Amino acid sequence: MKLKILVLNGPNLNLLGERDPEVYGALSLSEINRRLKVSADELDVSLKFFQSNSEGELIDLLHQHRKTVQGVVFNPGAYTHYSYAIRDAISAIQIPVVEVHLSDIKKREPFRRKSVLAPVCLDQISGLGWVSYLEGLKRLAAELRGKAGRRQGRKSKLLKALIAGVMGLFLGRESYAFNMDVIAGYGMPGAGVTGSGYIGGIGSQNLAYGIQFNAEASSRLSIQFGTLYSPRGFSVTNSGVTSIYSTQALMFPIMIRHKWFDLISIGVGGYFSHSFIQGSWDVIPSGVTTMNLDDSGVILSGDLRFKILPLVNLVLDARYLYGFQNLNASSAFTAYVRDLQVLVGLRFGK
Ligand code: DQA
Repeated sequence: MKLKILVLNGPNLNLLGERDPEVYGALSLSEINRRLKVSADELDVSLKFFQSNSEGELIDLLHQHRKTVQGVVFNPGAYTHYSYAIRDAISAIQIPVVEVHLSDIKKREPFRRKSVLAPVCLDQISGLGWVSYLEGLKRLAAELRGKAGRRQGRKSKLLKALIAGVMGLFLGRESYAFNMDVIAGYGMPGAGVTGSGYIGGIGSQNLAYGIQFNAEASSRLSIQFGTLYSPRGFSVTNSGVTSIYSTQALMFPIMIRHKWFDLISIGVGGYFSHSFIQGSWDVIPSGVTTMNLDDSGVILSGDLRFKILPLVNLVLDARYLYGFQNLNASSAFTAYVRDLQVLVGLRFGK
């Protein structure tokens, strides 16, 4: 977006070039303005220039431009040091004003060291000659562009990702990339310590398969959701007992992913899971197998939980790896790092 900025100069600055060149430099005001215009074009900013020797006119100019420009680079001359009327005008117009001075007012006569305007300005830049104006311009542009960027912000991006997810699912809209992964994998939730104090081996491992959808709101941000079904788990303890238990879990992972490179994306998310624990078989070193299924084989326990994972989700897309960009199906590799779920599958879609 092209920004519009007003460059305003106060009393006696029309005489720049002839007026105290050892303090203010040899450049005329029109030469300074010409240089600013060149830099403004590079910054994609359009400038309007005004100079006035009268306090009232400066105030009028601030008022008149309050809705037509997004900011002001202002050298108020000697009004800097005592004009409460200009100070009020600056705070009234509610667009950012950067106060600039050619000379370093902090190092001059005591009456110049104080600015009554600085408290209501975005910034004060002084002592750099004509470059003070340039720096003021850059400061304003950065502030205004930063603000616009922040306003668009994270919230709207996430919302866009969500909408894209839903649209991709039901409408298959072209503008949104939409992929489906059919995956199978191996999950290793990690080591656990049991109440009796021994380390529960490498925890309950499981095989999982399922479907995941990836709806992309932009080339960088996507939301991923789907199901994973894990039909069986087993754990190996450090005493050598292998426990095979039929934990059946249904997981619904939801993930927001950010893609930095074509190959890898990283995200965070969580999942709802529901697991049924139907029983277990222990295989102990002596060869004895015990079955701990209750007589009727009914579900012993089950749980429904929502787990927020501090996980890193890496997606490696083989399309890019092997140059199969034109294929509809490609292999996708997803590692849920926190839970060490390593899933490999086929990706259908764009
Ligand atoms: C000035 C500094 C003021 O003190 C002085 O009255 C000016 C110019 C500057 O640009 O250095 O007129 O604003």
